[in-house]
Amino acid sequence: AGNKTLTIIKPYAVKNGNLGAILHKIEESGYRFAAIKTLKLDKHEAEAFYQEHKGKPFFDDLTDFMSSGPITAAILEKENAVADFRFLIGATDPNNAKEGTIRKMFATSKTQNAIHGSDSDESADRECDFFFSKRERL
Ligand code: CMP
Repeated sequence: AGNKTLTIIKPYAVKNGNLGAILHKIEESGYRFAAIKTLKLDKHEAEAFYQEHKGKPFFDDLTDFMSSGPITAAILEKENAVADFRFLIGATDPNNAKEGTIRKMFATSKTQNAIHGSDSDESADRECDFFFSKRERL
């Protein structure tokens, strides 16, 4: 169990030219890209993706931001992918993210925090299915 996770490089990071640097950091950290695409979510799709946060005070800002521009979604494979990837990306709030983590390097706020990683194997399954059909996976 736990050999894959779903990541999203968020709009601000893509817009500011940090996509390649972030993908490189992920790859050099030992993850294989099993699937990858760049797309734009509409507000309704962003709300569906983040359904478990519905009702929280940051939900509207989060889904506005996530539908504000292009994102890059990818399925990453590695042993213990979910937990290890959350360590690699760092704390949700970049002010609390450790040196060397992706959010420390590229995030500017809790909302504009550069990157997403699945929080459990169950979330990873649901999130991979949200973005990718079977034919799009290796
Ligand atoms: P992400 O890993 O994409 O999953 C949920 C997102 O909600 C998270 O990144 C943050 O961008 C956002 N988020 C979580 N907690 C807060 C918070 N307290 N204030 C603002 N945004 C938050």
